[in-house]
Order: sequence, then structure tokens, then C-alpha cells
Amino acid sequence: MSTDNVYINSIRNFLQPIWNLLTDEKVTEVMINSHNEIWVEIGGKIERTSAQFKDEDSLRAAANNIAQSVGRRINNEEPRLDARLPNGYRIHAVIPPCARKGTTMAIRKFSAVQFTFKDYVAIGAMSTDGAQFLDICMKLGKNILVSGGTGSGKTTLLSVLCSRIPKGQRIIVIEDSSELKVEYEHVVLFETRLPNEQGLGEVNIRDLLKSSLRLRPDRIIVGEVRGSEALELIQAMNTGHKGCLGTIHANSAEDALVRLEALAQGGDSQLSEKALRHQIGSAIDVVVQISRYPDGSRRIGSITEVMGFDQAGLYNVKPIYELSRLQRQADGKLKGELIPAGHLPTFMNEIEDNQIPFPRSKFNPR
Ligand SMILES: Nc1ncnc2c1ncn2[C@@H]1O[C@H](COP(=O)(O)OP(=O)(O)OP(=O)(O)O)[C@@H](O)[C@H]1O
Ligand SMILES: [Mg+2]
Repeated sequence: MSTDNVYINSIRNFLQPIWNLLTDEKVTEVMINSHNEIWVEIGGKIERTSAQFKDEDSLRAAANNIAQSVGRRINNEEPRLDARLPNGYRIHAVIPPCARKGTTMAIRKFSAVQFTFKDYVAIGAMSTDGAQFLDICMKLGKNILVSGGTGSGKTTLLSVLCSRIPKGQRIIVIEDSSELKVEYEHVVLFETRLPNEQGLGEVNIRDLLKSSLRLRPDRIIVGEVRGSEALELIQAMNTGHKGCLGTIHANSAEDALVRLEALAQGGDSQLSEKALRHQIGSAIDVVVQISRYPDGSRRIGSITEVMGFDQAGLYNVKPIYELSRLQRQADGKLKGELIPAGHLPTFMNEIEDNQIPFPRSKFNPR
């Protein structure tokens, strides 16, 4: 039996009431709001189920056991648990009184199979040209931010992009809890550590980023930029580390840059606001925006070039690809294409100099 199966069997007893949901391949997330209110995401849509735990105590016991199984705890002192289970599930739990209806949990299942670029195009999450363009950005070592809302598919898209890193580089991946699937020959994987019971020993993303910079990385990949490490990341990008990647929680390319700025400001920067913005404007090359749509699908909504910070005090951003208007089809699915927005990337010369067969006409330049 594989270690994954041994592990999952060990927690199976406690998770019996939701076992069918966890083993249903179509279910991607199980959300427990209280012992008798359990929802799932199935085919991208959220639905309530009839599954129930016997009472709050048995749900709480399940949460305790999951925590223990990964050497953590969830109790009065630490009423929140963030964990990645050995079989790949990501789990977050909050217990009462913070969770007012009862123990609350979300279990995200990651599909065992990794999406490839091809699959991503096949499910309509991006167009063939959009995919080729992102592939080019990866080849040329552009610094890319994947931006999107909660559960919009950022981590999945980041994994897809990582699969296109050209051979022969040294990659360092830094995550809070290891989620990314990076299959690469030369890769260093870092994961943060929570403080112990005495509040000691914490290692955060920023610490690991500082270490990474001394470990001769070619590319640094930060699973989710959500703290003051934004500052080091921007500086790494500006000091010759090409091809850095990260995800950020934001609703548009501009928002992503503003959010990065706010996060970097928390990093006791000696930089003036203006200098920081200039650094961000030159560090980030491309922002890929991903969203979850009402039909449950996740798609790339835009691919935007960042061309600096202008005199008027705004980030100079121009969409290269944008999603066309979505139209509802008979089966309820939305149909749309990622189409060129008319902006020729400023690095078109680089594409041509590298003899990449992707002509100017692909961008529909105005
Ligand atoms: N293009 C896609 N089409 C369909 N399902 C997808 C797609 N991308 C991701 N998913 C599924 O959507 C769920 C959320 O994906 P993911 O974890 O990548 O999102 P996220 O934006 O990183 O979430 P979070 O904000 O919680 O970190 C997963 O179950 C994943 O398998
Ligand atoms: Mg994520």
C-alpha cells in the first residue's frame, strides 16, 4: 500500500461522514460549516450535501485527529489550523468560539494528475495563442505574477507555467505549505515552519527568500506572495533574477501591482514610495489574471504587460490578450476566447531575435 493510502486510511475513521465526498473524483473541495452543514464544490459549482457528522464533538475529534496526524494541534490557544496532508489535501480549520456555527473546515483536493499546457488549452482555460505566448514569456525569463481571487486557480496555473521552464536552470520554490507540482531536474523546495508552543522557531517566506538569494538561484518561485517578502522578491527580480514567478490575491493587473506595493511596504523598506513603485514597475514584466466564472469554469481573463511606472503616478500596464465577451451556450457553459488586445509587447524584438516563430500579426497590433 502506498504511504498516501496508509495515511488516508489512518484518518478515514474520523472522516467517515464525508468519505464518499472525499473519494468522489468530481468533488474538488469539501466545506464543513458545522457538523450538519456540509457543502462541496463539484464541477466548479458549490452545492450543499446531506452529509453530516453526528455532533459537534465528533467533528471536533476529526479536526483534532487531522491536526495530530500532521504533528500539529488545534485548541483554545491555537484555534486555527492550516495544513497540507501527506496525500496532498490542503486543509484549513477554525474552531469555536471563533467559528460561531461550530467547527469549520475546508478540505481542498488537488487533482492527482497535473494539468499540462495542452490540457489547459483543451478545457478552454486559455487559447492556443495565449498558451504559446505564455510559453514564450517563460522561455525568455519574464517575471510573471499570477493574479486572481480565492480558489480561482492561481496555484494550478503556476504549476502549469513551471512545467515550461527551459532546461538547465536552478529553481528554488518557496511555499507556506507545499502545493506546487514542479517536476524539474534541478529544483530546491522550501516550506515555511510555524513557531513551536513557546512561540519560537518560526521560519517564514521572507526568511526562506533571503536564504534563497544566497543559494544561487536562477529562478525563484513563491507559491503565494502575501507578506513582507514582496520586497525581497521585487529586489531579486530587479537584480538579475530573471523568470521569477509568484501568485497574488487581486482582481486585476493594476490591483495586483498595488497589492504587491502594499505588501512590500510592510517590509520596513528604506525606499520612498516613489522608488518602490519604480522598482515594481520594472520588476514585473507580465501579469496573468485568472478568474472563476459563473459556470464554474476557471479561465485566464487577461495577460498584461507591465511597462513601468509613469509620471502621472500610475503603473503603465497594457493588456496583450483579453477574454472576449462570454456567451452562454445551450448546456449552460460559457464560451469565450482569449484574443489579442492590439498591444505589441515591448519585448517583440527579443521574440524575433530568438527566432521564435510567433509573428507580430499574432498580436493584432493597431
Ligand atoms: N483551469 C481550471 N479548470 C478547472 N478547474 C481548475 C482550473 N484551475 C484550477 N482548478 C481547480 O480549482 C481549484 C482551486 O485551484 P487552485 O488551488 O489552483 O486555486 P487558488 O487560486 O490557488 O486558490 P487559493 O486562493 O485558495 O490559493 C482546485 O480544485 C483546482 O484543481
Ligand atoms: Mg493557491
